[in-house]
Amino acid sequence: MGAGVIGIGKYVPEKVLTNRDLEQMVDTSDEWIRTRTGIEERRIASDDMNTSDMAYEAAKEALDDAGVTPEEIDLVMVATVTPDQPFPTVSCILQDRLGCKNAAAMDLSAACAGFMYGMITAKQFIETGAYKNILVVGAEKLSKITDWNDRNTAVLFGDGAGAVVLGPVSADKGILSFELGSDGSGGKYLYQDQYIMMNGREVFKFAVRKMGDASVNVIEKAGLTKDDVDFLIPHQANIRIMESSRERLELPEEKMSKTIHKYGNTSSASIPLSLYDELRSGKIKDGDIVVMVGFGGGLTWGAIAMKW
Ligand code: ACO
Repeated sequence: MGAGVIGIGKYVPEKVLTNRDLEQMVDTSDEWIRTRTGIEERRIASDDMNTSDMAYEAAKEALDDAGVTPEEIDLVMVATVTPDQPFPTVSCILQDRLGCKNAAAMDLSAACAGFMYGMITAKQFIETGAYKNILVVGAEKLSKITDWNDRNTAVLFGDGAGAVVLGPVSADKGILSFELGSDGSGGKYLYQDQYIMMNGREVFKFAVRKMGDASVNVIEKAGLTKDDVDFLIPHQANIRIMESSRERLELPEEKMSKTIHKYGNTSSASIPLSLYDELRSGKIKDGDIVVMVGFGGGLTWGAIAMKW
């Protein structure tokens, strides 16, 4: 038995913050942001919208899409570094609001690699037969921990949520292989101290190395070659980091997901938001081999190779 995506949902706030808007807030330019990061605009949640509200909208759509009732969910897992509060967790708020009466619930904190950590954890429960249907959500309100006076970070982040229902699929489908890793010695390069603090250059170097290595490793672990890969979904942090992963896999441009221009870096929401958009646009088809790879504060990283 394999563990695969049987339903997906997403939510992004209505409010759009463009690079031009940011020019009015800090000493930056649309040109600088586009060329250095690939970002054109990002979504920002209103003051009264919490991470759990975005997670709820995405999760509801994922359940509907999967055709699974809330009572059939065994575990609710929410990857986030911006929970409404430390406890009750976002996952417990969701469990209640959705009516997942039979589910356990936990939040998972691995920054931008959080969704990968969630998917890989869910896979273990499903493949052992312990649980059947698991809701995995990546949701962030990064705007509440962004220093809007710091041009080094203010231009990068956005808010949003993506959710999948992971369930049993045939043995040759779903998550074929994974890699998870951490390097706490790099914690000083990316951390929260009221606001997000970052040494951009160090994070950049780490990301290029780990995203490339992890992508190649999961292909090998699945007994595949680069030629077998149909699509790459990298964490949407910086177009130049994403491009370096694509080049390591020797994939043409059209085989890499690119949503960073419209959402910015949404941390744990970035991979499921991209997956949603690529599935809905028909770019990922039945039988495709898809590599997903993320990195984040911690430092952490995670990747999976999946057969659709
Ligand atoms: N507008 C204009 N100039 C800027 C801006 C800005 N928004 N931000 C920085 N600059 C300036 C710098 O001050 C610097 O000026 P100086 O040379 O006079 O000192 C110059 O631009 C170049 O700065 P660099 O840091 O060398 O620029 P770089 O090309 O490395 O790009 C960036 C910076 C975009 C932050 C890049 O390093 C990056 O993307 N790093 C990775 C960040 C990342 O992925 N973070 C993930 C967070 S994940 C999580 O867990 C939340």
